[in-house]
Order: sequence, then structure tokens, then C-alpha cells
Amino acid sequence: MSAPASAADQSNAPAWVRHRALRQWVSEVARLSKPERIHWCDGSRAEYDRLCAELERAGTFIRLNEKLRPNSYLARSHPSDVARMEDRTFICSQDKDDAGPTNNWIAPREMRRTLDRLFDGCMRGRTMYVMPFSMGPIGSHIAQIGVEISDSAYVAVNMQIMTRMGRAVAEWLGEDGSFVPGVHSVGVPLAPGKKDVPWPCNEKEKWIVHFPETREIWSYGSGYGGNALLGKKCLALRIASVMARDQGWLAEHMLILGMHSPAGEKSYIAAAFPSACGKTNLAMLIPPPAFKGWKVTTIGEDIAWIKPGRDGRFYAINPEYGLFGVAPGTSEHTNSNAMRMLRENVIFTNVALTPEGDVWWEGMTEQPPARLIDWQGKEWTPQSGRLAAHANARFTVPASQCPSMDPKWEDPQGVPISAFIFGGRRSSTVPLVVEAPSWEEGVYMAATLGSETTAAITGKVGVVRRDPMAMLAFCGYNMGDYFAHWLNMGSTVQHPPKIFRVNWFRRDAQGRFMWPGFGENMRVLQWVVERTRGRTRDVEETSLGLMPRYEDLNWTGLEKLSAARYAELARIDAAAWKDELAAHDELFAKLGKRLPAALDARRGHMHQKLAAQ
Ligand code: GTP
Ligand code: SPV
Ligand code: MN
Repeated sequence: MSAPASAADQSNAPAWVRHRALRQWVSEVARLSKPERIHWCDGSRAEYDRLCAELERAGTFIRLNEKLRPNSYLARSHPSDVARMEDRTFICSQDKDDAGPTNNWIAPREMRRTLDRLFDGCMRGRTMYVMPFSMGPIGSHIAQIGVEISDSAYVAVNMQIMTRMGRAVAEWLGEDGSFVPGVHSVGVPLAPGKKDVPWPCNEKEKWIVHFPETREIWSYGSGYGGNALLGKKCLALRIASVMARDQGWLAEHMLILGMHSPAGEKSYIAAAFPSACGKTNLAMLIPPPAFKGWKVTTIGEDIAWIKPGRDGRFYAINPEYGLFGVAPGTSEHTNSNAMRMLRENVIFTNVALTPEGDVWWEGMTEQPPARLIDWQGKEWTPQSGRLAAHANARFTVPASQCPSMDPKWEDPQGVPISAFIFGGRRSSTVPLVVEAPSWEEGVYMAATLGSETTAAITGKVGVVRRDPMAMLAFCGYNMGDYFAHWLNMGSTVQHPPKIFRVNWFRRDAQGRFMWPGFGENMRVLQWVVERTRGRTRDVEETSLGLMPRYEDLNWTGLEKLSAARYAELARIDAAAWKDELAAHDELFAKLGKRLPAALDARRGHMHQKLAAQ
């Protein structure tokens, strides 16, 4: 059955790997990185348990109290390795213009020289894990196969939760299936007899590198999240966005949710928000009591792959198998579905540890526990004056544990999308909800999305920046070409979804959120669904687009949100919008010739409309 192992085959592949090119590639990476041993992950439960036990022995994992949090672990990262690093992320296309002004670029030849240097012997003393994985249900026409090589057991167990990983995927690949190769190393070779540290990572150098033309990923020096779990941002967004451009589909930083009305109608909505801006929360929303008979279900909470279907609608799948979600702020009050999901079989990273051996993070309970061990392993009390959990602390958990998963979440055909929502974190300027009158105007809205930066990326937090389609850090090619692709995609289907922009984060003069958010976002979602069904006749036409009037939203159970307060949430401040448009202009100017003419025209139009307001 298996391919005859040639002298060059040093891949140590089991018989279930029949793909000669895959064995050869693994042999080559092993020759370069010189691991102590090679382990092909079969994706079994026994393998998961064994690796977790090894991680516990190595001090990477702390096993949580079996009664309070069964089969769950806590990992604490190195303090230099806590989030994505956008300044260390590179798109190495042949031509610099194909990466575009919003991506870091290095010439492929130069980058390959650097990678040869970095990876030479970088896995010495370690196990090299080989992980065949599928993004999307195995065999779905929307799915893609990847193979990640990593020298981190933490990565291997996380990949087993986040993707469909192991033997079944290798078997599906057969002898000649195509796959995206990704190589990851923490960048810390182990000298013989030297003891490992709990969280190995390279403190001097970190690189997250993509070759869009040859569809390869190389990541060095970090063990955290999207830097190291290569199926997620590297494959499912940066490389997939390039595939999607070439093949006529969309790879987006979007949640997918199902809206079920009391009348039994079902609609699916995909929504893009930048990192740590509310995708997980919205995807798992529990409607307020007044919305009797309404239900929200979850297809995905971070990434959507969307293809035109034969019936003239877009169909979307969630390419992931698990969640790598933000812990801080998650509570019974904000997301009780998440709290139920997190009861067992979870890997927590950088949260605090209670004396009972359970976890805690800021916002989990109103009163913090009297004593904790913080995310760096230090004694903590509420008087310590620092965070107990890192602001980007996360949980890794199987999607199947989420109580709100939609029965269709693994449907290989995907679900039909009725609306796209784009949202950012904006303390001022941007109203609660605006509908774009047309696809083109919607693409302009999405392209000019701005948001305050969060702890999900290293660097300064709370600075407004343009984050087009919430894809600034994830588009694997020139942003101008990406806008053109979006404009085109609207005409590839007969029924393009309506496009909306929302903002849950507007603040009052005292700095408090003006919108209650979380479950109450249902009020906006209901309006969105009704608009897509052509039911709400009356809307207000504004310089930004179509907006609900106070009486157009369902306020049952939230009557305390007065018409006057809603007016504040919906207010268009002309002076603020002048600055806002200047920021749009700045982004568009940066894109130069690659900016589609239609968007430049729309920009001019916006200036006129606001001037006339
Ligand atoms: P990534 O996983 O980083 O891509 O982000 P995400 O968009 O899934 O982030 P997530 O939903 O986990 O966002 C978490 C943060 O957003 C927490 O600080 C929440 O408290 C906050 N948040 C989510 N929804 C709302 C809301 O409706 N209103 C307010 N004010 N905050 C919200
Ligand atoms: C994000 O930053 O948007 C995430 C977390 O979803 S990570 O996978 O680390 O990129
Ligand atoms: Mn994300």
C-alpha cells in the first residue's frame, strides 16, 4: 500500500501516508531543521492525552481541578509572546506591489536565504510533529487541506482542537492531493541534556512569512495563537484570500450566525469585526427575553469561506473546528453560551489560576477572587494593581461544545448568506447601524472601516486605524486589488447580500458605553433580517446610508433606552465626519493606482453628501 521508502525518504511516515511529495517535503524540512525525531499526528484521542501529559511533565501545562474543570489545562506563555505580531508578518510576493502598501514585504529570494539560516538546525533536540489538517469539513468543495510541521507539542494539541487533523486527512489527500505546506518552529534548539523551558520561543527573532504565489507558510520564533497555529490566520485568511481572488470566492475575517424567527424563518448573516471586537460574542448571542421564539445559532466565530452558489446566493462555511477565543470579558452575563462551552476539555492560555485550581479572568465575575496566581505565575490580589489575566488571554475549545452550534455547522455545502455586517470599535463618530443602499456603497463602507486597536495585536492599544473589512492584517495581497475583487464578487451572484455597518462601542461624555451591547445587539440583528426580507418599509436616508428611526427598532424590554439616547447613538456629527473622510482619503491615497475607480468616485460622492448635510 505505502509508497516504497526511497533512500531520500527520511520522513518516518506511517503507511497511511501515501503521498510521495508530502513525504519528500517532510524529509527536506527534517534535513534542514534536524529534529531529534519525527512524529506524524494521527489526530486520535490517545495521542491528544499523551501529548497533554507530556506538556504537563514539561511544565507547559498545569492540569486544572478535575472536578471544577475536567480535562482542562492552563498554559502560561513567555511575556514576549502573547499576541499576533503584525510588524513581524510578511507577504513575500515576487513583486512588491502585489503585497501592496498595507503589508510588510521582503523579496522572496532574500526571505528564503533568511529562512534557510533560521531553520538550519532549529529543531535540534525536539520532536517534529507533522499534522495533516483540513480547513472545512473533509471533502467539502469549499475546504482546503494543509500540512503543518511544528516543533511544539502545544501547537499539536491546539491544532487538534482547531482543525480536523490527522490520519483521516492524510488518507483523503491520497497519493497526489494538493495541500498548503506550513513550517513552524519556536526557534529554540535544545542542546543535548539541556532542560527545556515551559514556553520556548525565540526572544530575539520572530517571523511569520507567507509566499502567496507558491502558497507556502513559514513561521519562526513564536508559539502563540495565530502566529503558530498555521491553519487559522496564515492559511485560512492570508493564503486563502489569494486563492479566493484567483478562483472567485471570498476568505473573510467573519463570524457566521443563524437567525431563527418565531415564524420558523431562517437567515444567515456573516459579520466582520477586527480582532477582539465582538465576533465570538455576536456569533453566540442569546436574545433578550422580549425576543420570545427568536433563536441565534452559530456556524463560525472567526473565519468564513464564501462561494457563489448555483441558486445565485453566496454560501459560507466555517473552515475551523474549534475556537481560539478571547477570555477577558466573557461571563454569564455577556456570553453564557461561552461559559457553558468552557466547562471541560479546554486549553486556557494566559488566564489566572485560582487557589482551587480553576481559572479566572477580568470580567468573569463582578468581584475578583481574594487571591490568584496571575498569568505570569505570580501571587495576585485585587490590590496588586495589574491584570490577573493577560488582556489577550485565550481559550482553545472544540466548536462542538458550543451550545448554540447550528445543526448545519458542518454542512459541506455551507449556508446561504443574506447580509454582511461590518463593525469596528469606535468610541465616537460611527452610528449604531447603517445600511448601504447598494453593493458598491457597501463595499466602500467596508473598505473604509476604522477601529480602535486591541490587545489581540502587540503594540499600542486604543488607536483608531483603518482596518478594511477587518482584514488589514489578513489580506495576502494588494488591498486595492482586494477591493476590486469585492466589487466584482457582487455581480457574480444574482442576489448579493445587503451590506450594513454597525458600532456597539460609542461612548458618552463620561466614557461609558452608550449601547448595552451583547444580547441587546439582537435588536439591530432583527432589523437587519427584516431589511433583507424587504419588510421594513420606512428608513431614514442619511448622508451615510439608510438608518432605522427610533420606532423602527424593537425596544420591548429596553424601554429605558430613550428616543433621545438613540438619537445620540445614531448622530452624524459633521465635523467628526470631515476628519473621518480625511482618514478614508489617506488610505485610498496610499493604494494609488490599484484603488478601483468606483471606490474613488464613491469617495468624492461622500464628500459632496456630507458637505450638503
Ligand atoms: P478575535 O478572536 O481576536 O478575532 O476577536 P473577536 O472579534 O472574536 O473578539 P471577541 O468577541 O472575543 O471580543 C471580545 C471583546 O469584545 C471583549 O472585551 C468583550 O467584552 C467585547 N465585546 C463583545 N461584544 C461586545 C458588545 O456588544 N459591546 C461591548 N461594549 N463590548 C463587546
Ligand atoms: C485574531 O487576532 O484575530 C485572532 C486571534 O483571532 S489569533 O488566532 O491569535 O490571530
Ligand atoms: Mn480573529
